[in-house]
Amino acid sequence: MKRPSRVEVIVLMDRDSLSNAFITEYALSILIRAHYQKKIKEILFDTGISWSKVVYNAMKMGYNIGKIRTFFISHWHRDHAGGFKERISLGGEDKLKAYSPDDKRALREVAKKHRNLNVVVCKNKTTVIPGIYSTGTIASSREHALKIELVSGKKVLIIGCGHAGLMNIIKWSSSNKEILHAIMGGFHLKNEASHNVRLILRNISNRVERVIPLHCSNHKRVFKEVLKDKYTPGGVGLKVVFE
Ligand SMILES: [Fe+2]
Repeated sequence: MKRPSRVEVIVLMDRDSLSNAFITEYALSILIRAHYQKKIKEILFDTGISWSKVVYNAMKMGYNIGKIRTFFISHWHRDHAGGFKERISLGGEDKLKAYSPDDKRALREVAKKHRNLNVVVCKNKTTVIPGIYSTGTIASSREHALKIELVSGKKVLIIGCGHAGLMNIIKWSSSNKEILHAIMGGFHLKNEASHNVRLILRNISNRVERVIPLHCSNHKRVFKEVLKDKYTPGGVGLKVVFE
């Protein structure tokens, strides 16, 4: 069970939506379902601001995230971890595991809220489930990203808010000549001028085969213009399957 053969990535919360049926928030939550030979393992990557809203969207799509025990918190800002704080305050006897970046202040507050919570601090590269791991806390930020390595050899990088900068995060998480099959998530470009975004996207375009911007990425027209077929528009309800 070293790597998943197939991974479904489902956007549960974002500022945009693919349908009116879902609730949107300026926040992020992504469900990851990794298929191994005999098992499916689930991770919830970020949890939105409000747990109940993420649960609602998931239910609408036919997923019960109430049973998820493994959480990946990209960083502890409210739009990514607010839902998790609500979830742990619900209590219950189940053991929950949260993979966190190295952020001592945020962790001190969270540790008191659920007696069965096991927080794994990902200072360096840390396996979450086979083939899927934390990049370790990215220098100059209190954030980490999630990297998926499939049986096929394809690699996918999922980013929460991208505070450290898109190219920095790609360099941090992959070797020099490595091509990423896809990057997905918040790229923190909302305050950048269009010409800067163009430059950033041109810079990364030979390192990635597919780009799915969400959350704080904005600049949809520029993504389309620079990346053409490599660009997939995101939003709540988007499901991407990697094999
Ligand atoms: Fe954010």
